[in-house]
Amino acid sequence: MSVSTFDPRDPAAMDDPLPILLRLQDADPVHWSPALRGWVITRHEDIKALLRDDQLSADRLVPFYDSLPADERNAVAGVVRHLNTWVSFKDPPEHTHLKACLSATLTTRDVQSLRPYIQAAAVELVERIGTQAQFDFIAEFARPLPAMVIAHMCDLPRDAMDQIRYWSGEMRPFIGSASASPDKYARADAAARAMGAYFQDVVRERRRTGGEDLIARLIARGTSSQLSEEEIVGACVLLVFAGHETTTNLIGNGMRVLLQFPRALRVIQQQPIAVKSAVEEILRFDGPTGGLVRVARADCQVRGKHIARGQRVFLMVHAANHDPRVFRNPDVFDIERAPNPHLAFNYGAHFCLGASLARLEGQIALREVARRLPTLRLDGPVRYMDTLVMRGVGEMPCTLE
Ligand code: HEM
Repeated sequence: MSVSTFDPRDPAAMDDPLPILLRLQDADPVHWSPALRGWVITRHEDIKALLRDDQLSADRLVPFYDSLPADERNAVAGVVRHLNTWVSFKDPPEHTHLKACLSATLTTRDVQSLRPYIQAAAVELVERIGTQAQFDFIAEFARPLPAMVIAHMCDLPRDAMDQIRYWSGEMRPFIGSASASPDKYARADAAARAMGAYFQDVVRERRRTGGEDLIARLIARGTSSQLSEEEIVGACVLLVFAGHETTTNLIGNGMRVLLQFPRALRVIQQQPIAVKSAVEEILRFDGPTGGLVRVARADCQVRGKHIARGQRVFLMVHAANHDPRVFRNPDVFDIERAPNPHLAFNYGAHFCLGASLARLEGQIALREVARRLPTLRLDGPVRYMDTLVMRGVGEMPCTLE
């Protein structure tokens, strides 16, 4: 692929988008991609500035919906209506109000109180793995752990997460995939409707029974802050969706990187405290955030390029996290790197609400695997999922030597 194009559907870019993105970072840091019909921004400095620039809007759903022909609009009406309640697609002042409500339901204290549960769940999964000769690390550990944690936080039955994971998986390509699978709109639409209906019932039931869990807290805070029923249901779906997909990718990508760099793994085994900065380096080196999408609210200039109102802008966080203008030896995996100003949780107003939970889960998960499965090895090719916005290992065959 030449440096003059970026097409995330190109198999080479899908497998490893970094080489082409880093070439663009040097030669064309504000790049027009005909394949994406949008601008691709790759430098750390530019992305950091643009994440704080109110000329870019997080509301990319309405312009997308408006651009569709009428028959295609019908096909996505359900998923767009549902996602439109999510804080991630809002600008101020709506964003500010909704974010304040959600932040109040997931405080540092709430997160810290989860430590014993996360620890016990990680040990339970590791012990189950310990009896198997060959297994997929993603299916047996990276996927179930965050699902167990979010189910516990929301006081949902564990088996509900199988269904929720299926719906999330159906919505994921719509939210963040580069591939143009013909039925991705219809599948996302059906899943959003089903997941919305499921959580509507949960919210109704929780209103009746009360409780202390995340959903009960959301209902209480949402009601006193005059959120509509639809917004409360949307917030539940967002927290459950965001709360497990990305954390699975942190744990999966993280373990892949640690197996690739066994010296780092040994450091964590010998000094478990090192896992804290190792998780930050994993977030930078091969984190779950590929890119973030915005829409220009007005005509603007970036590095002399004219971005027209309504055009999409792809902020390629994964590339920014490898920008040599900010990170010394960016291609070196250094678990002691400090400072480490990666952008994996965003930087501006949309900074990840679950960052401290994700960090805690990542630290406990990787520390327990390193400590209790010291002979864990890769046992086949690792497959990354086809995504542009999120980046995650889909399958990771492993064995215990
Ligand atoms: C390693 C795991 C995670 C990563 C890398 C991650 C990353 C991100 C990023 C990059 C954003 C900004 C999206 C944008 O600006 O378009 C975001 C937003 C968000 N995240 Fe996370 N996230 C993770 C885990 C979680 C968890 C565990 C939760 C909740 C339980 C969560 C809840 C949210 C919410 C509610 C937002 C929207 C915030 C806003 O728009 O103001 N995330 N996350």
